[in-house]
Amino acid sequence: MEAKLRVRRYDPSSDGLAQYQLYGVEMPESATVLDTLLATRERLDGSLAFRCACRSAICGSCAMRINGQSRLACKTKVIQASPHGRPVTLEPLASLPVLKDLVADMGPFYDKIRAVVPWLAADPAKRPPVREYLVDAGRSTKLSQFAACIQCGVCYSACPMVAADDRYLGPAALAKAYRFCHDPRDDAKAERLSRVAREHGLWRCHTIFSCQEWCPKGVNPTEAIQNLKKLTMLKRLGFIRE
Ligand code: SF4
Ligand code: FES
Repeated sequence: MEAKLRVRRYDPSSDGLAQYQLYGVEMPESATVLDTLLATRERLDGSLAFRCACRSAICGSCAMRINGQSRLACKTKVIQASPHGRPVTLEPLASLPVLKDLVADMGPFYDKIRAVVPWLAADPAKRPPVREYLVDAGRSTKLSQFAACIQCGVCYSACPMVAADDRYLGPAALAKAYRFCHDPRDDAKAERLSRVAREHGLWRCHTIFSCQEWCPKGVNPTEAIQNLKKLTMLKRLGFIRE
């Protein structure tokens, strides 16, 4: 089949104006959007800029907007995106600065993840290393769900509240905060909760569910944010102190 792409081109080092460019390339019906981009760059236009690495929905680097929806290019088949053979429109992730073509600057996204203390902060004074700290199976399954985040930025790009408030922490950072607040081995819950409950934090979430709908790894940031809201209220009532 001829796979047709309509790619948003942008090069800040030239005139700075974005424009759309059409490409058509012969591909098998099983081709993903990423396969087609790679073939286009190899056969037609070596100047086309996009990110990719694993090609298996593991690294998160190929996230972009495909026909307006934030997705992984390596997990989306051209035939799914365009069953009637129309050109598939490709744009960089929304709510992030664009470096070139489909390459977004992920810096603001990573900064927000860093802001929520995204690590296990065990206090040795409270937890002398005399034994192994076990996590029960039910909680461990829940932690794995949130730990599955590949930091692709799909939820961030899909979230209308991030678009409305560029200081809003966003779904991925809040899901990461919940992953550690839910961990019984962590001793920084109070600090983390006070960080996420600030003006541009979790109360900005209007439960729109876009993050849950589009996350390619089933992380469900909406659930994480609701649980964080509950924990924040428990902290205000004095049930969480450490
Ligand atoms: S929560 Fe899902 S969509 Fe958001 S960054 Fe993580 S893997 Fe990507
Ligand atoms: S190339 Fe790694 S997630 Fe798509």
